[in-house]
Amino acid sequence: MRKKVTVVGAGNVGANCALRIANKELADVVLVDVVEGVPQGKSLDLLESGPVEGYDVTVTGANDYEPTAESDIVVITAGFPRKPGMSRDDLLMANYEIVKNATEQAVKYSPNSILILVTNPLDAMCFVAQQVSKFSRNRVIGMAGVLDTARYRTFIAMELGVSVENITALVLGGHGDTMVPLVRLTTVGGIPITELLDKAAIDRLVQRTRDGGAEIVKYLKTGSAYYAPSAATVEMVESILKDKKKVLPCAALLEGEYGYHGLFVGVPVKLGSRGIEKIYEVKLEAAERTQLDKSAAAVQELIDVLKQKASF
Ligand code: NAI
Ligand code: 2OP
Repeated sequence: MRKKVTVVGAGNVGANCALRIANKELADVVLVDVVEGVPQGKSLDLLESGPVEGYDVTVTGANDYEPTAESDIVVITAGFPRKPGMSRDDLLMANYEIVKNATEQAVKYSPNSILILVTNPLDAMCFVAQQVSKFSRNRVIGMAGVLDTARYRTFIAMELGVSVENITALVLGGHGDTMVPLVRLTTVGGIPITELLDKAAIDRLVQRTRDGGAEIVKYLKTGSAYYAPSAATVEMVESILKDKKKVLPCAALLEGEYGYHGLFVGVPVKLGSRGIEKIYEVKLEAAERTQLDKSAAAVQELIDVLKQKASF
């Protein structure tokens, strides 16, 4: 039987996730959105690409969750971007309502699914999905680290004029300004990056990575990135559906790892058919630990707001 993936939110990230899943023939896809006609129209359009691209998966659009039943994976991309005049907390609470509702509906129809969260603020939305679904932590995963690491790898490859495939790297922490690209573990064809670039250049690339999302928003003006985010999400989907057991940086609920409890933080995990099959604890140097603590504290701040204003 074919695998089935539901993508909630048929906007830029969601529709591109559906396109990439179909193109790779990973699964049948159900696109869900609140706007009537949009998921139906985009799904039909994607279906009509099949004869040209040569894929045979089904893509269905819906405004309700019944067609999503028995999904293997549910990707949640539904949410608002930050609008003028909206505080960070306003956005947090607006997307909290959306992710809460999407999670309730999705798990009602797919109680055995694995949830992949994309909606921002990412680490806090993972917390919402986990609290609402009550799924074990291996089945609630956040997409951010794969994207942040891809941006870091891209900037290094551009700087050195080498293939992106030669860059091995890892970005830890929350999906925000405080993310932690681990310079010490960054290599270019096996060569430590510190042997190829001076500190000023590395600092510049690290900062560009931290600002990577904002750099795209500045260009697009009316929205945020979606090609790289959807590519990153589908790498996670593929690793799970094919049980590839890729080691990827993802937001995972930590229960003591890295010294954090009850907090979603981006860390390297093994992704296979059971979702998160292992969390890897990297030995950190003092400065790296300080940076990660700062990043985790930023995530904790949002969780504290949620705990105050929502019913957790
Ligand atoms: P978008 O505005 O293009 O799409 C969002 C879609 O969600 C819209 O089609 C909207 O109608 C839908 N939606 C709103 N409420 C809904 C509900 N209750 N149920 C179902 N659908 C609903 O936005 P885009 O660019 O697709 O981004 C989506 C989210 O992903 C945003 O929160 C964005 O910040 C986040 N994001 C996160 C990234 C990460 O690294 N974790 C990377 C890129 C985006
Ligand atoms: C990004 O990093 C907006 O989180 C989104 O592009």
